[in-house]
Amino acid sequence: MTALPDARVALTRLLTAGLLQQVVCLVARLRIPDAVADGSLSLNELAERTGMPAATLGRLLRAAAALDVLTTEGDDRYGLGSLGEPLRDRPGSLLAQAELLTTPSLWAAWGALDHAVATGESSFRYVNGASLFELAGVDEQLGRVFHAWMTAQTELQIPVILETYDFSRFSRVCDVGGGRGSLLGALLRAHPNLKGVLFDLPETVPQASALDGLEERAERVGGDFFATVPAECDLYLLKLVLHDWDDERAVQILRVIREAASPGARVVAVEFVVPADAQFGYATFMDINMLVLTEGGRERTAAEHANLQKEAGLEPLGSIPTRSPISLVEAAVPL
Ligand SMILES: C[S@@+](CC[C@H](N)C(=O)[O-])C[C@H]1O[C@@H](n2cnc3c(N)ncnc32)[C@H](O)[C@@H]1O
Repeated sequence: MTALPDARVALTRLLTAGLLQQVVCLVARLRIPDAVADGSLSLNELAERTGMPAATLGRLLRAAAALDVLTTEGDDRYGLGSLGEPLRDRPGSLLAQAELLTTPSLWAAWGALDHAVATGESSFRYVNGASLFELAGVDEQLGRVFHAWMTAQTELQIPVILETYDFSRFSRVCDVGGGRGSLLGALLRAHPNLKGVLFDLPETVPQASALDGLEERAERVGGDFFATVPAECDLYLLKLVLHDWDDERAVQILRVIREAASPGARVVAVEFVVPADAQFGYATFMDINMLVLTEGGRERTAAEHANLQKEAGLEPLGSIPTRSPISLVEAAVPL
């Protein structure tokens, strides 16, 4: 059967998507959405602000206007388009994601997707000679955009988590791999009777400024979640932790939690759950992103999560969707 013209159009859109992504992300990196947020500016004004030659900048801006990131008024005036608004540099913005996805080390790693698929190894390490976390620790630009992206994601996810799950029935929560404490801090502030433990690597927990002022109710414990986690909590949270690891290591983390937790305690993993019906969603993109960027990390379907939970000796309670791409995957420690 010959391909329908519509299929050719849709395919061309896909084939050029990565190149258009570069256009959108460069406009974001140049902070053009912020520059035109309060009113349109001329090409020459934008050239002066960005330090770019007007002749080539004009071609970039014309392409961005065709993609609704900017608007054009006349030949050489540009305003803010509907897709430019969420790229402005402010809380909840997608700017950090735009910057990270086209940062040279990530772009090069995606260019070596074939290596990751053929070997199961991280193509980020293959191309850059170090893991994403290692490089973010020494490359100032990468470190800045990576942490900005993590923070921006967390800012969007926390309200969604708080509104989706009933935390009021717990007395002591442990955020396993809780990073800098943003989720735990928000939880304790929303539930004044709740106590909490932030558990992460020893070098990370002292940086948890989100827990400042909560010393009476928040403990910080440093350690290795493959060996031990704090005992006697009735809720263990794992936000975007299991997706960093292959099945064997993910089961190991869950098993350590089951051994430390009291019978009846709940274990809730916050994850991008891959839809079982092959519909393309953010989790599907993130799964390939994890293949490229991490060493063994992956996104899973609800059934795959349930298998991990069972293997760790937990009772699966199902996956709770939210109004955002994350889900809450719940299990109970057997009585
Ligand atoms: C992807 S981050 C998620 C952080 C946080 N939960 C969030 O959603 O923003 C994974 C976290 O796991 C922590 N981590 C990695 N290996 C660990 C280990 N062996 N023991 C404890 N924490 C670890 C990292 O320091 C990091 O904070």
